[in-house]
Amino acid sequence: MRLSICAYAVAGLFIVANGAQAADGKALYDANCAACHNVLAPKIGDKAAWAPLIKKGNDALVQSVIAGKGMMPARGGHGTLTDADVKASTEYLVSKSK
Ligand code: HEC
Repeated sequence: MRLSICAYAVAGLFIVANGAQAADGKALYDANCAACHNVLAPKIGDKAAWAPLIKKGNDALVQSVIAGKGMMPARGGHGTLTDADVKASTEYLVSKSK
């Protein structure tokens, strides 16, 4: 009995920890994208620069980041980022720029 409660607790923690990792767009952005997007175009918060990009839709933007675009290397140069990480950080960047 005690053992099974413990197993549920561990499984619960694991799910929470995993969810937080993929969902924390701000932390991912700060660690992987801010060095460029806080200073270079398209800059975070620059609504005029982002408006035409946001029109393409989040999926297209996420694909650009995964594949790389112009001066931006694939996954912002951070090959260890998962697709979910790229999506979360892109969504954070977009949410601050519209
Ligand atoms: C080395 C600098 C650099 C890093 C790091 C970087 N970017 Fe970029 N990013 C750019 C540049 C430059 C462009 C403009 C590319 C172009 O249009 O030629 C761009 C464009 C974009 C776009 C628009 C794509 C499109 O389809 O027009 C998105 C969204 C984006 N970046 C998100 C991110 C995210 C999210 C991260 C972190 C995971 C990130 N970038 C990391 C430099 C960077």
